[in-house]
Amino acid sequence: MRYEIAVVDGDGIGEEVCQSALSVVKATPGLSGVFDFRSYVAGAEEYRRSGSAYPEASFEGCRKAHAILHGATGIPGVTYPDGTETGIEFGLQTRFRLDLYANVRPIKLRAGVDSRLRDRKPGDIDYVIVRENTEGMYAARGSGSILRDEIAVDNLVVTRKGIERISRFAFELARKRNGAPGDGKRRVTLCDKANVLRSYAFFRKVFNEVAEHYPDIETDYAYADAMTCHLVERPEFYDVIVTENMFGDIISDLAAVTVGSMGMSPSSELGDHNGFFQAAHGSAPTIAGQNIANPYGTILSASSMLVWLGERHGDPRLIRGGAAIERAVDAAMASPGGLTRDLGGSATTSDVTRRVIDNLASQTSVAAE
Ligand code: IPM
Ligand code: MN
Repeated sequence: MRYEIAVVDGDGIGEEVCQSALSVVKATPGLSGVFDFRSYVAGAEEYRRSGSAYPEASFEGCRKAHAILHGATGIPGVTYPDGTETGIEFGLQTRFRLDLYANVRPIKLRAGVDSRLRDRKPGDIDYVIVRENTEGMYAARGSGSILRDEIAVDNLVVTRKGIERISRFAFELARKRNGAPGDGKRRVTLCDKANVLRSYAFFRKVFNEVAEHYPDIETDYAYADAMTCHLVERPEFYDVIVTENMFGDIISDLAAVTVGSMGMSPSSELGDHNGFFQAAHGSAPTIAGQNIANPYGTILSASSMLVWLGERHGDPRLIRGGAAIERAVDAAMASPGGLTRDLGGSATTSDVTRRVIDNLASQTSVAAE
């Protein structure tokens, strides 16, 4: 079987990190001739050029593909008349229109990276944020109202169906993992503000109903404000964290920095029919074009893409390929000179790409011996 991958570079560093990940995928042993890569345009530059941040042809290409690989989109200041950003239309509309309800963001401290948290070593931080991706505060995108230039309103929406499916997703994920690093317990933590708003209290009620079907998994709760302290003070306690869209957006940046930097944050945005893979960071226009962006997050997202495709289509070649990329990343980061500037090193985007590709090649030669 051949897989069609829609590739969207986007804006800023998007092209550099996306092309880096693409070269890694292309160099993964055992996968030649398996993919058709098709590039599509979207983002703030495209908006400036054509007046549309997400041309319909690009959406159709993404919808039809087996998976979507993305660099980053958005440029601050390239906005609609209402002041919101144009370029991010790509990511948001892809989520909403393809119903990619689960945004899966693994937070893992890898060998070679110094955590900004004192005394934390590889293995101590290893949890997954499961961000609800189609409802919550951001579902109001484009529908808020402004009254007399005095009052602005955006509505936070959650539905029983949306909460049930994201909660189930989180519990199923916890079943496949090995528990929290601190105590080995399988645990799903709901991050909310059920103390303040009705919608979050309802989220908690429905989450608890789902939890009853998973007596083997511990349930835990944290208010979103307190969560920002917990993720700094006791990250080893966490295994799977499930949360509303906007809270998930916020805590995933905090979490990324505890394991190195925003450049280290892969994500998979999954629905029942489509998968969308990109790092959780932005397009960093101030460092674009300088070959200094950290591509690890996008490379790890591409690795998850292969594993997801492989599981979905029963294709062990892709599962092996995805695992090989992750090992190659780990080896690259752990070896001297493997870190980019954001992680305190001086490796360039192309240095990292080359190292990961070399590591993939040496894995094969070891396997062949
Ligand atoms: C993310 C990003 C997006 C979000 C932006 C680019 C719309 O910050 O994926 O976390 O807010 O969800
Ligand atoms: Mn974000």
